Amino acid sequence: MPVNYDELENTLASLTAGECDGVALMATIACELHHCDDRFDWTGFYRVTAPDVLKIGPYQGGHGCLVIPFDRGVCGAAARNRTVQLVGDVSAFPGHIACAASTRSELVLPVMNGDGALIGVLDIDSNQPDAFTQTDADRLSLILARCFKDVAAPDFRGHA
Ligand code: SME
Repeated sequence: MPVNYDELENTLASLTAGECDGVALMATIACELHHCDDRFDWTGFYRVTAPDVLKIGPYQGGHGCLVIPFDRGVCGAAARNRTVQLVGDVSAFPGHIACAASTRSELVLPVMNGDGALIGVLDIDSNQPDAFTQTDADRLSLILARCFKDVAAPDFRGHA
């Protein structure tokens, strides 16, 4: 059953109304998103925790790798370029990081707050080849922008 983005938007709007804690938002979105479409076999966030470093955040599915530098993987490409990565065949993506051997396609979206600060990325993996569409990318980008607009930018003070 494919996701109904109008319903998903309404559900997330009511669940996250007034929330500006990034991890709480990520946990809620990962849970709702993962269970609304059988294409989504891994659904989760990586957070910006230091300059050019992503660390795993809330997710649904098998274990994901804990740390991804911006110069690695599909997630790193989304973070460093701040662009959506719509990958129809992960085996054709140079430097793809395979957290699961079953992954065939992937959609990774940058997550920014209302000031344009990079908060992290949303990563969705599918065991189906070429599973994601531009509509998925466009609708999810809008949902992320609305949910994360009031989240504070990452604070790296205290990081060497
Ligand atoms: N495939 C991602 C790594 C995260 S695991 O898929 C959860 C990448 O290449 O960045």
